[in-house]
Amino acid sequence: MCKKTYYITTPIYYPSANLHIGNTYTTVAADAMARYKRLKGYDVMFLTGTDEHGQKIQRIAEEKGVTPKAYVDEIVAGIKDLWKLMNISYDKFIRTTDDYHIQAVQDIFKKLYDQGDIYKSSYEGWYCTPCESFWTETQLLDGKCPDCGRPVEKAKEEAYFFKMSKYAPRLIEHIEANPDFIQPESRKNEMLNNFLKPGLQDLCVSRTSFNWGIPVTFDNEHVIYVWIDALSNYITALGYGSENSDLYTKYWPADVHLIGKDILRFHTIYWPIMLMALDIPLPKQVFGHGWLLVDGGKMSKSKGNVVDPVILVDHFGVDAVRYYLLREIPFGSDGLFTNELFIKKINSDLANDLGNLLSRTVAMVQKYFGGTIPAPTAKEAIDEELIKLALETPVKVDKAIDKLKIPEVLDAIWELVGRANKYIDETTPWILARDEEKKERLGTVLYNLVESLRFISVLVSPFLTVTSEKINYQINNDLTDWDSLASFHGTKEGTEVKKGETLFPRIDVEAKIKELEALVASSKEPEKMPMSPIKEEITIDDFDKIDMRVVKVLDCQPIKGAKKLLKLKVDLGGEERQVVSGIAQYYKPEDLIGKNVVLVANLKPVKLRGELSQGMILAAATGDDSKLFVVNPGELPSGSEVR
Ligand code: MSP
Repeated sequence: MCKKTYYITTPIYYPSANLHIGNTYTTVAADAMARYKRLKGYDVMFLTGTDEHGQKIQRIAEEKGVTPKAYVDEIVAGIKDLWKLMNISYDKFIRTTDDYHIQAVQDIFKKLYDQGDIYKSSYEGWYCTPCESFWTETQLLDGKCPDCGRPVEKAKEEAYFFKMSKYAPRLIEHIEANPDFIQPESRKNEMLNNFLKPGLQDLCVSRTSFNWGIPVTFDNEHVIYVWIDALSNYITALGYGSENSDLYTKYWPADVHLIGKDILRFHTIYWPIMLMALDIPLPKQVFGHGWLLVDGGKMSKSKGNVVDPVILVDHFGVDAVRYYLLREIPFGSDGLFTNELFIKKINSDLANDLGNLLSRTVAMVQKYFGGTIPAPTAKEAIDEELIKLALETPVKVDKAIDKLKIPEVLDAIWELVGRANKYIDETTPWILARDEEKKERLGTVLYNLVESLRFISVLVSPFLTVTSEKINYQINNDLTDWDSLASFHGTKEGTEVKKGETLFPRIDVEAKIKELEALVASSKEPEKMPMSPIKEEITIDDFDKIDMRVVKVLDCQPIKGAKKLLKLKVDLGGEERQVVSGIAQYYKPEDLIGKNVVLVANLKPVKLRGELSQGMILAAATGDDSKLFVVNPGELPSGSEVR
């Protein structure tokens, strides 16, 4: 019989996105879903990738003096490393710079143009470069980009447009007839009421102001502007439009596009309309999850509050990070990350609840039965509650997972963890162990605990991959398939348990927070600036021609009409000089008076803005001139040589 398929996608990430613990969430959640479905026997296709075109990438690459492709290649390698670290089991990684994608997107664009859905016109609007979005006047918030709050620029250019409005009624109908299409429910209403019903504007789908994009085949001034390029990845990755479209036939339509709420509009309006125009079935569901916020709100490089997943994995292990993300972003709303909340959660749920359950159980099997798992021969009524809950848990988990309620899934599994711990307290094995006649009862209790751990290990395996393996190792379990959860008798009596490492060592909350804070502070190195090229080689004789002296600044004044210049009077050891220096953006005149600086004393005098400049003040500056300091020669007498 053919396996049922399950196709799940994450957004393709911008290489410029600076991956932090927040945007890692989408991929960790999709990974959990993909692993879960594999466990349930589905034939899974889990797609992720990178969204590599656009003006921003072109600008960054230019600043770095490399080609955009070289720039993205390096970042994409880093993103793949991060996914490896996070144990992300994607089946395919698409890059929008892949040849097959470029070819298919060009064909899609041409088809839409040929059938009259795309037309040429010109666009005038407010453009946010970092978001690569045009906004109308009314969409701006305080005159700034409504998405990221950064300044926007007025822009007008010839562009191709997609006739969105043509398909709007069909899309409204589809959304209303398919309540699961946009999830959670609240987001569906937002899309319908805020965007679709008030009337859709046609979408700008090409640009001429930069060239790092997929060229429009029939109009080479234009590159295809972000969304047709990016969104198409979900089908081009499967070979849509190529010679081999077997994967497309097998997996499309996607079961779920998992995305953050910020890109919901693109996925629930533009994408379905594109698909309608191409006569392709729509994805079954688009799920817009909430965000992981930090104390100060959104994580952003400019706020300096970005939480680095690599540091967290390094200190706490990948499963602790996955657990926190999956448990703490509630269904449909935002979650919060703080070091304290994170560490406390590890201590309570992972070290105390799960870790102790395993270590106590294994230790008791070793102590009372020499490490051999006993048979459950002496059942009592109290066992039933635990067994019933264990058997019910997979059902509960299955119900919640299909609605992508991952925190509820983990709640259900931890209810079983909690119940098993309580069962230890209720049955008091250490008391049973004192009485030889109760040996069989003791054996039954321990068997039930080991079998509960087997259930827990299978159930957590999509979420906490390493932990599940560690549990299996200690209880020596190789029965890990979902169907084995249909009966509470999977563990084979007579199996030897093995003592292993502590699952999650308890953490001293305050000490660890201090350590992390110190680490973050020390890792805030000054940003690396592009270095200007080293000039042509000179000899020592060439250098010797330059006469540099220590001078004291006697007076300093701005120069009218020259924003960048200051006029300095300096003492060269008895001789006074006037020097014009381009440092007004970095120093106020009063900051310099009385200071010693270095003067190139034998530079041919020039007039700058009508003022005589007899030499030049030495300063050190970053390549982009964002920071500058005049060279400080210390307290040497005026006229001293600088060699
Ligand atoms: N390139 C587009 C997607 C195109 S898909 C056809 C993009 N990329 S992104 O790199 O900016 O974002 C990737 C994912 O990270 C998105 O789902 C976004 O919502 C998510 N997140 C970014 N910051 C986040 C948090 N702080 N918390 C949770 N998810 C967040 O958008």
